[in-house]
Amino acid sequence: MRTTQQKDDPTLQIEPGVPETTSIWQHHHILDIDDFTQEEIEHVFHTTQAMKEVMSRPIKRVPTLRGKTLITLFYEPSTRTRLSFELAAKNLSADVVSLSASVSSVAKGESLVDTLGTLQALGADIVVMRHPQSGAPYIATKYIEASMVNAGDGWHAHPTQALLDLYTIHEHRGSLKGLKAVIIGDIMHSRVARSNIWGLTTMGAEVTLCCPPTLLPAGLGRQHHHFPSVSIEPDIELALDGVDVVMTLRLQLERQQSGLLPSIREYIQLYQLTEARLARAKPDALVFHPGPVNEGIEISPAVAHGPQSVINEQVTNGVAVRMALLYILAGSQKQ
Ligand code: CP
Repeated sequence: MRTTQQKDDPTLQIEPGVPETTSIWQHHHILDIDDFTQEEIEHVFHTTQAMKEVMSRPIKRVPTLRGKTLITLFYEPSTRTRLSFELAAKNLSADVVSLSASVSSVAKGESLVDTLGTLQALGADIVVMRHPQSGAPYIATKYIEASMVNAGDGWHAHPTQALLDLYTIHEHRGSLKGLKAVIIGDIMHSRVARSNIWGLTTMGAEVTLCCPPTLLPAGLGRQHHHFPSVSIEPDIELALDGVDVVMTLRLQLERQQSGLLPSIREYIQLYQLTEARLARAKPDALVFHPGPVNEGIEISPAVAHGPQSVINEQVTNGVAVRMALLYILAGSQKQ
């Protein structure tokens, strides 16, 4: 239920068809989806569906976040995440300001805490941050009243990417329950993989991880209280057998200096998603990649641009999912 204040708040006008932010939503920040319930993820799906309707209009703008300020704070490069958050916020009529660490006072040595204090003093309501250190957004919440959204922190989490991936599966299949998903590639360095493991298992999908043993983080594959249980299958042909969803990951070439792979050529031979390998999955299996894609390394051009690829849909859905999340967060902010 919305509070009386929220009902009276002209900046949170509910559009026809947009679900109200209900009592099932427990988050002032979006830091990961490891603490999201199935009901919360379904609420994101329903709200995203309404946002897609808004995006289909000739004029995509609604006044929902008028008077709210969203700041993007990126300490690492980004194309999709940053642009889609900025478009999402603009579609909701928020004031949007962007800060790249490389051209800000961070380059002169300003600390994260001081930068956050400055954003707070400038009136930020929502801060979307990408940071190379795992856990940085959690620390940030101690120094800012604005809602923090994690746009990727180190190897740890990329919750909004996982939510747009889950939504794209939901859009095609109607439900994730009982689906078989395989995540192939550089799982060790992948925040996308970690957040998708949480999201997929919360929604009832079975997850198999496929990668060289050197790119598998310790502790996966067995049930313990820090991570959900997943299967491990290092043989890509066996891992793809009969799956509904194939997620390939970018081989993070900038992080391969420490001898984790004998050679990129061997990685391509053993782990590239090719048409022949994809034929082992279900005929209507969906192929995902979070981008940016190293075409010809983790995925062949024919698969990346083939009929089963939903890579462009992921990008498009990224705007609608982020509109939904901003809408929900604004509705849940302390009044
Ligand atoms: N998927 C993803 O995070 O892409 P960007 O690095 O371009 O934001």
